[in-house]
Amino acid sequence: MILVTGGAGFIGANFVLEWLEHNDEPVLNLDKLTYAGNLHNLDSLQGDARHIFVRGDIGDRALLERLLAEHQPRAVINFAAESHVDRSIHGPEDFIQTNVVGTFRLLEAVRHYWSALPATQKEAFRFLHVSTDEVYGTLTPDEPAFAETHRVEPNSPYSASKAASDHLVRAWHHTYGLPVLTTNCSNNYGPLHFPEKLIPLVIVNALAGKPLPIYGDGRQIRDWLYVRDHCRAIARVLQAGRLGEVYNIGGWNEKANIDIVKTVCALLDELRPRSDGKSYAEQITFVQDRPGHDRRYAIDARKIERELGWKPAETFDTGIRKTVQWYLEHPEWVANVQSGAYRDWVAKQYGAVQ
Ligand code: NAD
Ligand code: TYD
Repeated sequence: MILVTGGAGFIGANFVLEWLEHNDEPVLNLDKLTYAGNLHNLDSLQGDARHIFVRGDIGDRALLERLLAEHQPRAVINFAAESHVDRSIHGPEDFIQTNVVGTFRLLEAVRHYWSALPATQKEAFRFLHVSTDEVYGTLTPDEPAFAETHRVEPNSPYSASKAASDHLVRAWHHTYGLPVLTTNCSNNYGPLHFPEKLIPLVIVNALAGKPLPIYGDGRQIRDWLYVRDHCRAIARVLQAGRLGEVYNIGGWNEKANIDIVKTVCALLDELRPRSDGKSYAEQITFVQDRPGHDRRYAIDARKIERELGWKPAETFDTGIRKTVQWYLEHPEWVANVQSGAYRDWVAKQYGAVQ
C-alpha cells in the first residue's frame, strides 16, 4: 500500500480518488483535518476497503512509527501542509510547525522505518514530497519560466516554509540515502478546492451576490494546472522518477488574475445567468494588495515531459469549464465547507468588503 498524508485536502483528496480509480493498491490516508481537511471530499470511498483513513498529525512521531510498522507502505506521498499564503501572513506559526517541523518528523519516522526494511523492499521504497513553484520566488515579465535549476528565493512565510521542507527532503537523501523525489507544481484549480483560494472564492462569492476581491491591479500572473493533471504527474514521478531529482509540474497556462476572474464570470453568465440579466463581472472589486505579493509564476515543465512523458491532458478552457460546472452541481459541498471557522477567516481577511 501507499501512505498519503494530507489526503483530505484539495490536492490530496483528488489524488486519492484518482489513484483508486486506476489502481487497486490500498491507500492509508493520514490527515489532521485542519480547517482545510474535509472528509466529505472522500464520501465516494465510504465502505471501500482500499481506503483507510487515520486522523493524525505528521508531526506525531509515535503515531507515524506505529502506522508504518503496522501497514508497511512501499511509498509515502507527503501532501500535508498549511497551504494558504494569506493565512501565512496573518499567522506564520502553523506553517513552520507543519511544513517544517512536521516534514522533519515525518522524514525521521520514515528513515527509521526504511532503514530496517529487507534489501529488496528498501530499494523499491519511495518518499515523494509535494511542493510548490512558489519556492522559486517571483519572475519579471520577460524572465524565462522556473526550471528545476532556478535559485530558491521564497518571499512569503508559506513559500519559505515549503522551501525549508524541500531542503530537508534533499538533505535526507544526500546524507542518509533516503530514496526521495520532489515535485514543485504551479497553481492548481478544480473540484474540491477550498473557497479561500482565488478561483473557488470567485465562484462562490459570485453566486452569493458578494464582491469578487482582486488584490492590487489584478495583473499578477499565475500558471494554472487542472488538479487531476497534477495528480497524474505525481503518480508518474512516483513510478519512474529518478531518485533525488526535482520535477517541476505546470500547465503552460500563464494568466493574469483579472483575466481568470473575467473568464469565471463569463462561464457563470452562460451557465447560471444572474436574475437581473447583468454580468457577474459587475461584482469585481479591487481591494488592497497582499503584502510582498509575487508578481509572476511560470513553470518550465520540459524535464517531466522529456524524462517521464507527462503532459497535461486539460487545457485551461476545458479545465475551468469542468471546475465551474462542478461547483454549480455541488452546492451542498460548498455549504458544508463554509463553516463558522471559514466565516471568521473571511471577516478577518476582507473586512467590510464582504
Ligand atoms: P490544502 O490546504 O487543501 O490541504 C492540506 C491538507 O493537509 C488538509 O487536509 C489538512 O487537514 C492536512 N494537514 C495540514 N496540517 C497537517 C498536519 N500537521 N498533519 C497531517 N495533515 C495535515 O492544500 P492543497 O492545496 O491540497 O495542497 C497540498 C500540497 O500541495 C501542499 O503541500 C501544498 O504546498 C502543495 N501545492 C499546492 C498547490 C495549490 O495550488 N494548491 C500548488 C503546488 C503545490
Ligand atoms: P491564491 O489562490 O491564494 O494562490 P497563491 O497566492 O498561492 O498563488 O491566489 C492566486 C492569485 O490570486 C494571487 O496572485 C493572489 C490573488 N488573489 C486575489 O486577487 N484575490 C483573492 O481574494 C485571493 C484569495 C487571491
